[in-house]
Amino acid sequence: MKIFSGIRPSGDLHIGNYFGAIKQWVELQEKQECVFSIVDLHAITTPYRPENLQNNILELTIALLAAGLDPEKCVLFIQSQVKEHTELAWILGTFTPIGELKRMTQFKEKAKKHPEYVNAGLFNYPLLMAADILLYKADLVPVGKDQEQHIELTREVAKKFNKTFGEVFKIPKALLSERGQKIMSLQYPKKKMSKTDDPAGAIGIFDTPEEIKEKIMTAVTDSGKIIKYDLNRKPGISNLLTIYSLVSQRSIKTLEKDFKRKGYREFKKSLALISIRSLEVFRKKRKELLARDVYIKEMLNRGKNRAQTIAQSTMREIKSRMGLI
Ligand code: AMP
Ligand code: TRP
Repeated sequence: MKIFSGIRPSGDLHIGNYFGAIKQWVELQEKQECVFSIVDLHAITTPYRPENLQNNILELTIALLAAGLDPEKCVLFIQSQVKEHTELAWILGTFTPIGELKRMTQFKEKAKKHPEYVNAGLFNYPLLMAADILLYKADLVPVGKDQEQHIELTREVAKKFNKTFGEVFKIPKALLSERGQKIMSLQYPKKKMSKTDDPAGAIGIFDTPEEIKEKIMTAVTDSGKIIKYDLNRKPGISNLLTIYSLVSQRSIKTLEKDFKRKGYREFKKSLALISIRSLEVFRKKRKELLARDVYIKEMLNRGKNRAQTIAQSTMREIKSRMGLI
């Protein structure tokens, strides 16, 4: 099986990214052919600071390695270094109806959030994402739930190409984590966890023990006292139960039983403790990696070469089918 996924270099990794996507990447690299990309060209579609971008890329690379990606077992590269991504995105746009792109919820949400910044790049974002995936002929794309619609569009685009110009693309499927596909904000449990939208509601994988404790203890809970999973009536507690279950690898049912006669405060204290313990290893690894920037640059360069070889070969097929060569 071939696997592709990407992540934007915008802010630090939070546990939503980790449990929604990265943890699956780490597991998949053991047995499958995996290509993962730091998608800097996607990151520039929303407001950003040019002077920070290179550092964000380095920090994200360190975070991915600290979380367990192994460059000996997967290809890891920076999107803008492989030009075929933008080339294919343009090509896909020549036969994708505008209406398909207008339907995308992420576009609608981001346009609403940055009304002064609704650019064509943001609109075409899903085409660049489709190009990322299709160049590597991926079968599976491990992502969080918010990206499902984009994968659906990628499938439509791939089918249309194959039908019009001949079979080139695989039709990829989204691979969602069973429990971690949508981790919610600790402050707004009806919104997904996001570092940029509300930092206080997002636990970073490199947060200090004090930060983790503070964020969990001040997490919004629900009225009532019972620790029970009920998404409609108890979105706050349900989200904390999901997180507890992910960090402790215990089922939600077991947790409900264990905390049956206990209050929210005790539950949160226990969650803070176990979260601090399980995230500690990431901070340790980060420290080691910070001193290895030469190794990291070399590794990304190797990743670029490997990705480029695959992308160029697919691009030749595409151009040949389309009469461009
Ligand atoms: P991004 O930082 O938006 O590029 O997201 C990187 C990956 O993390 C994507 O696969 C997202 O679907 C996933 N992701 C982001 N936020 C969450 C969340 N709150 N819960 C689960 N998965 C998420
Ligand atoms: N759009 C994804 C996000 O916001 C990131 C991304 C870009 C991606 N290209 C991709 C994910 C290709 C999977 C496959 O999270």
